[in-house]
Amino acid sequence: MGILSGKHIVLGISGSIAAYKAAVLTRLLVRKGAEVQIVITPAGKEFITPITLSALSSRPVISEFFSGRDGTWNSHVDIGLWADAMVIAPATAATIGKMAHGVADNMLLTTYLSMKAPVFIAPAMDLDMFAHPSTTDNLDLLSQRGNFIIEPQSGELASHLVGKGRMEEPEGIVAALEDFFSSTLDYEGRRVVITAGPTHEPIDPVRFIGNHSTGRMGIALAEEFARRGAEVDLILGPSSLKPSEAIRTTRVTTAEEMLQATEEVIEEADIAIFSAAVADYRPRYHYTEKIKREGQAEMELELVRNPDIAATLGAHKRPEQFFVGFALESNAGVEEAKRKMHAKHFDAIVLNSLQDAGAGFAHETNKVTIFDREGSIEAYELKSKDAVAHDIASFIIKRLGE
Ligand code: C5P
Repeated sequence: MGILSGKHIVLGISGSIAAYKAAVLTRLLVRKGAEVQIVITPAGKEFITPITLSALSSRPVISEFFSGRDGTWNSHVDIGLWADAMVIAPATAATIGKMAHGVADNMLLTTYLSMKAPVFIAPAMDLDMFAHPSTTDNLDLLSQRGNFIIEPQSGELASHLVGKGRMEEPEGIVAALEDFFSSTLDYEGRRVVITAGPTHEPIDPVRFIGNHSTGRMGIALAEEFARRGAEVDLILGPSSLKPSEAIRTTRVTTAEEMLQATEEVIEEADIAIFSAAVADYRPRYHYTEKIKREGQAEMELELVRNPDIAATLGAHKRPEQFFVGFALESNAGVEEAKRKMHAKHFDAIVLNSLQDAGAGFAHETNKVTIFDREGSIEAYELKSKDAVAHDIASFIIKRLGE
């Protein structure tokens, strides 16, 4: 029956004249076999009646926190877990603004904030509102956080007729969803190992040597590969982030622990991605008691080299395995990245330049260039780390298919 068959879609409708198109969208999705749960804002109900929508979706439309006078209530948390995707169509400037800033003052917005599935936003408003910096900034923010913005393609003849801000047609929204779900299984049957996050090298019970890596890029990669059907082992250094349950996560602290945990799973891996920011050195001695400063004007910390996880495992790489490294360079990026690719036996390397604003550690966004041994180079725009993960996975699958 097609790619959307059996998919759980939450359709959020806000108050725009384009709300009538949500009825057509509902009908198309239901015809494709999707289950559609509609959540509508109070303003949305001014434009289209819940009765029409519940008839089309064969489910009660949710608009209030409480469903009756008997105290039963609609759980936005449950809807967030039930969904395979959320689509907000039409999304008004007000709803987009509230989504960007966490203003959860109606059921659509609380559902959005509890959503575990990918979110697609189809803006609908007049040109002035669409062009206002508040709107463009809010859409940028939402896109950088990994939400998908669906706009009419301004192609060919009609481009001057397609008013900016006009909502994408229901057929276009369905196509975007089909696109998204159809790329999901290209990694089925493959095992992927990913190292991510920083490492902490203890000095004493309360101090360590570490770095500012958050693990965000590696976790985004793990989620992307898992979504596309891979079995993923994530070896994660200290990070406050929580990967989803689809990912087998092993938490480690030090570089030596990370090497050991990665060694245990690398044999079975088809693909390994080394995105961890491993501390190059560790203190020679790990004091079991807190070091006291009394009487010490100066102190020296003796450091020893940590193992290079990527290089150690790269030396035993089987020809059919595909290893990818990361390089974070402040200058001479390309040459240095190529040197590392060869030195560490990577098949490809992802370069993020420290010179690009918004890229690298502790940012939600990243700007990368990917090289491989065959001489292909792909340079990408500044994007959310989720979107970068998508590009990296697509780059690798293309190489594996060649
Ligand atoms: O040498 P450099 O740290 O720039 O190399 C970066 C690449 O090597 C990354 O893929 C990183 O995860 C990996 N690496 C490693 N173990 C180390 C140092 C770097 O796996 N000790």
